Amino acid sequence: MKPINVGLLGIGTVGGGTWTVLTRNQEEITRRAGRPIQITAVADRDTARAQQLTGGAARITGDAFDVVRDPDIDIVIELIGGYTVARELVMEAIANGKHVVTANKALLAVHGQEIFAAAQAKGVMVAFEAAVAGGIPIIKAVREGLTANRIDWIAGIINGTTNYILSEMRDKGLTFADALADAQRLGYAEADPTFDIEGVDAAHKITLLAAIAFGIPVQFDRVHIEGITKLTADDIRYAEELGYRIKLLGITKRKADGFELRVHPTLIPAKRLIANVEGVMNAVVVNADAVGATLYYGRGAGAEPTASAVIADLVDVTRLHTADPEHRVPHLAFRADQLSDTPILPISEVESAYYLRLRVEDRPGVLADITRILADQSISIDAMLQKEPPEGEQQATIIILTHITREKQIDAAIARIEALSSTVGIVTRLRLEELNG
Ligand code: HSE
Repeated sequence: MKPINVGLLGIGTVGGGTWTVLTRNQEEITRRAGRPIQITAVADRDTARAQQLTGGAARITGDAFDVVRDPDIDIVIELIGGYTVARELVMEAIANGKHVVTANKALLAVHGQEIFAAAQAKGVMVAFEAAVAGGIPIIKAVREGLTANRIDWIAGIINGTTNYILSEMRDKGLTFADALADAQRLGYAEADPTFDIEGVDAAHKITLLAAIAFGIPVQFDRVHIEGITKLTADDIRYAEELGYRIKLLGITKRKADGFELRVHPTLIPAKRLIANVEGVMNAVVVNADAVGATLYYGRGAGAEPTASAVIADLVDVTRLHTADPEHRVPHLAFRADQLSDTPILPISEVESAYYLRLRVEDRPGVLADITRILADQSISIDAMLQKEPPEGEQQATIIILTHITREKQIDAAIARIEALSSTVGIVTRLRLEELNG
C-alpha cells in the first residue's frame, strides 16, 4: 500500500530516536498502521549530521518551511521546541492541510487554543502524546481509555529532572544546588534548567492534562507554579520523619466551584506507590469515578521513550487520515463546541493540607500562641514535631502538619504567626496531599 509521507522538523535527541525506532520496527509498525510510514524529508540546522543519520534515505534541508510547504508531505513532526518558529511552522503546516505530531508542550500549553482551532477548521489532526510524560501513553489513556469516567483529579510527577534532584536530596542529604549540579553533570538537566526547576515544564504538561481530563480550554496563564529551588534538605528529612516524601507534583482537581490547577513541591504519604517513583522516572495518578485510581509509570524523557509516543501518534494519524474529521477523537477529548467555561480557581481558594516549619524562642506559651492562631482560622492540627535547640542555642524548630484547609486561611494564620515576637524569621509552608484514591 502507498506509504504515508512524513516530514521531520528537528533530528536531535527525540528526532534521532524517532528515525531509529521507525526504521528498526518498520515491519511491525506497518502491520499496525496498515501502510508504511516513511520519513521522506528532514529539516535540521545541522544538515551534515542529518545526512549522516539518515544515510541518504530522506531529503535533507536546512529550511523547515521547505518541509511544511512540500505538497508530498502528509504529516509534519515538530520537534524544534519553543514558541516562535515552532508556532509559525505548525500553523503553516495546518494551513497547508498537513497533520501535525508534536512533543512541544510549551507551544500547546500557551498557544493550544489557536492551534487546535486552526486544525479543527482545516480538518487536520494535531497529536501530542509525546508532550506529556514522554513515553507514558497518558494522553491516550485519559482521552480515550477513561472516556466513560468523570475524572475527579490528576496528580503527576511529570518532570524527570526535578524528580532526580529531589531523589538525590533525599537519598544523599544533598543541598538543592549540589543535586542540580549532579543532574547537569549527568546530562539530565539542561545547561539552563530554569523551566524544569521552576516548575514551568510541569505546568505546561498539567495544563494539557487538565484540558483533556475536564474538557476545558488550555489555560497555562491560570496555573499556580512553584518550583523546587527553595526546598531544603531539612524539609525533606522532617517530612520523612513524619512519614511523607516531597515530590514536585502537577495537580488538577474538579471542585464544586471550579478547577484547581497547580504545580508545587508536595508532601505525599511515603507508602503511596507514586511516592516511590525515583530518579528521572515519571508517574501520573488519575482518579475517576468509575475506575477509581489508576497509575501510569515510565520514562518521561529520552530519545526512544519519547520516540515511542511520537510514533504512536504517527500510527493514529495514519489510521484516521482518511476518516471524516467529524469521526476522529477530538483534540482535547471533548468536542470543540462542548468545552466548559468553568473557571480555574485562584490559589487562595485551593484546598490542601499543609506542612509548616518555623523557628521559635523556646519559652512557655509559644506553642499555645501558635495553636490559638490556627484555631482562630479554623485550622485543625494533624501532627506536630518539635526539634530541641542544639546545645547553646535558644530557638527550637517546630513542624506542624494541618488537616485540609483553604489556602487563604493558612496565609492569614502564617501572617499572624510571623508577627509573633517569639517567631524567628519566616514560616516555611508546603502543601500536603494524601492522594486517597
Ligand atoms: N525536561 C523534561 C524533564 C523532559 O526533565 O522531565 C521534557 O519535558
